[in-house]
Amino acid sequence: MKKSTVTLTNNQTGDSYEYSILESTRGSKVLDIRTFFSDSGMFTYDPGFTSTAACESTITFIDGKKGELRYRGIDIEALANKHSYLETCFLLLNSRLPSEKELHNFDLEIRHRAYLHRGLQKLFDAFPDNAHPMATLSAAVTSLASFYDEHIDMENEDEYLEMAHRIISKIPTLAAFAYRHSLGIPFVEPDIDLGFTKNFLTMMRAYPGGKMHLSVEGHEDIKDVEIRALDTIFTLHADHEQNASTTVVRGVASTGAHPYVAISSGISALWGRAHGGANESVIAQIEYIGSVDKVKAFIEKAKDPDDDFRLMGFGHRVYKNFDPRAKILKGLQDELRDELGLDTELMKIARKIEEIALSDDYFVSRNLYPNIDFYTGIILTALKIPKSMFTPIFVIGRTVGWITQWIEFKKDETSKIARPRQLYSGK
Ligand code: ACO
Repeated sequence: MKKSTVTLTNNQTGDSYEYSILESTRGSKVLDIRTFFSDSGMFTYDPGFTSTAACESTITFIDGKKGELRYRGIDIEALANKHSYLETCFLLLNSRLPSEKELHNFDLEIRHRAYLHRGLQKLFDAFPDNAHPMATLSAAVTSLASFYDEHIDMENEDEYLEMAHRIISKIPTLAAFAYRHSLGIPFVEPDIDLGFTKNFLTMMRAYPGGKMHLSVEGHEDIKDVEIRALDTIFTLHADHEQNASTTVVRGVASTGAHPYVAISSGISALWGRAHGGANESVIAQIEYIGSVDKVKAFIEKAKDPDDDFRLMGFGHRVYKNFDPRAKILKGLQDELRDELGLDTELMKIARKIEEIALSDDYFVSRNLYPNIDFYTGIILTALKIPKSMFTPIFVIGRTVGWITQWIEFKKDETSKIARPRQLYSGK
């Protein structure tokens, strides 16, 4: 049988180089050009990595054309509909779903590790009152590295899983504390009697001491439907292959830095508006638009090539048909409409944007569909979560993905320090 290769010919010199085509178990084939520089003395040029596979992975699979997303081989829709976020975390870390007993033990382990070292709590005081929770969160995760041993023995599964469980467990506490610091209100400690998602909502919302302030509208006890919605959002965010922040996490991992420092770098990368920061920008943009009758003018602005205004929550580097996570959240949003009072002016503007953009040739021809951030922004607003916490909530969900990718990178004996080259055009 003919070997699967690609031959590249330099038309100036006539030299030819042959490269193997690697078969993926799913999705696109990959051309192995690792020896291209030593063969030819040339680099490949691919800013933004639109044609580059930077690693081999068994964690998450995306087919952008079909709108398919799988964690460890399991379709995202099945996971989001039938399994909890903690089951998803177990799946990502262990490559299989847990048994009932394993889930029970995992849940206990995560509950037990949610508290923070008292020294770490003092860090929050150093930040200005109005600090964005993402700034505090990223710094707090870096400082977490100083509380736990730097060396992880990758031969010792218990050791690296403990490191992973600790960060998954403490992230909601850090995020809730960052939020409460930004409001100048006392922290609420994690409650070991509560499950992962309810515990986070309680740490955010409860009166100091942990009780819910029942008399304040919107702060009544936490409804099951709210827990379900937030848990689904965490699951949908849990991993997303080699996106910008994960690439940063792997890049930092490649230098040998502490795993929590790598996670902190991922948090910083996620904050940008083109990535996880888009969920906050979606609602900020809708508030700025202000009324349904102004939507059309803003759509025109987004289409203007001379205006850098973009419609937040639309478009995706990989999904060019639809974002399967957005599809699940749109369903959830419709389901929650009555229970969570989604019929606000903000919702009407969001629906108008969606309606016009989905039928406008500019968006249709460029495959610009609503992405996950469009719907998370809307659902989190309905859960009365303030905008500044949207991206920290993304962080909570994504931490398991980052740490799983960190483990995979570290266990891969062929991995190298990330060190791309450049096309020099200076003097
Ligand atoms: N509004 C208006 N036009 C857009 C938008 C948008 N949201 N997104 C892309 N375009 C246009 C571009 O101007 C470009 O038009 P052109 O071909 O006439 O020059 C074309 O669509 C392709 O855009 P690119 O920027 O090349 O697409 P890329 O794949 O690099 O970017 C990205 C993807 C960053 C997500 C982009 O669509 C965007 O900025 N969207 C808004 C921000 C957002 O919602 N980000 C969240 C992404 S999901 C996530 O990170 C969880």
